[in-house]
Amino acid sequence: MSQSRLRVGILGATGTVGQRFIVLLQNHPQFEITHLGASERSAGQTYKKIVRWKLSQSMPEDIGGLTVTLCDPAHFEGCSLVFSALDSSVAGPVEDAFARAGMAVFSNAKDHRMDSDVPILIPFCNPDHLDIISHQQKSRGLTGNGYIITNANCASTGLVVALKPLQDAFGIDKVIVFTMQAVSGAGYPGVPSLDIYDNVVPYISGEEDKLHVEPRKILGRVEGGDTFVDYDVTLSAMCNRVPVIDGHTECVSIKLNKTATLEEVQKALKEFKPKLPALPSMPPVSLQLFEESDRPQPRLDRDLGRGYTVAVGGVRKCNVLDFKFTLLSHNCVIGAAGGSILNAELALVRGYLK
Ligand SMILES: NC(=O)c1ccc[n+]([C@@H]2O[C@H](COP(=O)([O-])OP(=O)(O)OC[C@H]3O[C@@H](n4cnc5c(N)ncnc54)[C@H](OP(=O)(O)O)[C@@H]3O)[C@@H](O)[C@H]2O)c1
Repeated sequence: MSQSRLRVGILGATGTVGQRFIVLLQNHPQFEITHLGASERSAGQTYKKIVRWKLSQSMPEDIGGLTVTLCDPAHFEGCSLVFSALDSSVAGPVEDAFARAGMAVFSNAKDHRMDSDVPILIPFCNPDHLDIISHQQKSRGLTGNGYIITNANCASTGLVVALKPLQDAFGIDKVIVFTMQAVSGAGYPGVPSLDIYDNVVPYISGEEDKLHVEPRKILGRVEGGDTFVDYDVTLSAMCNRVPVIDGHTECVSIKLNKTATLEEVQKALKEFKPKLPALPSMPPVSLQLFEESDRPQPRLDRDLGRGYTVAVGGVRKCNVLDFKFTLLSHNCVIGAAGGSILNAELALVRGYLK
């Protein structure tokens, strides 16, 4: 089986998202982890010796025995693709180097998200944005599998999955979103315990700006194979860090372009089916609509569809805009490592990976 799988490297393999990649890719039918990269702190040591393993699932034994290297393409020979879970302070130039070396880069970092030739890909919402890759390769002179695909900020991901069916059915004019974001979203060691225990921190650096621009690009279209045209929606976000380990909750109010009844809005959310080929990590349901008014909740619902499903509940009329609801998405799965894995699976099906 291993001979038919593509060889894969993980950059930032020791971090919060890197560990998720390792668990989610265990026994993957198409991808086999063969290389691990991290900083100078970790390079030269076996993975099991250097990683501070934080997941309840055990570390796969074969991965524990791999030696961690620096994130230099020369150490990743034979890999078709790399998943990047690098800290954004270093991700940009490192990802460029891997793309130039002919490897596909599936990134979680913010560095390339807003580049004019790089998609923020969420297969549930904008699979056709993958088609900009040919233009990116041409304009950057990249060869082989060399290109960069990003996924969205972890709070943008859940939001756009919930907005997509409403955009398709009615069009969306305005969005106000109030987030309650899990501590794992800040990486490890993240927010000091004395700041977050028994507390809410009403600020996450740079996060609101990402929520104002990323959904516009993701919900937009690619014109002429080489230009992103943003979707014309105005967003206002207020981002909060809360003492939850995994799972971002978001309270959303929306104004639609067309008049709709509550039943029509609920039906659009309930019947949402992404237009996608079968992918190994696709959950049975990409968006689950709860009828109960007190769901979704992070502790109960973050692992729906192994963390790949976005949950929406409490859909009701809003006295200021048109409708409001609560959503929940697993920030480290669909909002990070799992989102990247879906992106790579889609790229493989569409012939962008060899
Ligand atoms: N956590 C989430 O929910 C989430 C969601 C979406 C996107 N993201 C993004 O995903 C990326 C990773 O986040 P995280 O939460 O996993 O962060 P993290 O826990 O802090 O892990 C950062 C990783 O980057 C590596 N690294 C740091 N400096 C490096 C350097 N100079 N050279 C090479 N590697 C270096 C670290 O390696 P060492 O262990 O060797 O220091 C570690 O493996 C970030 O860009 C983040 O914004 C995170």
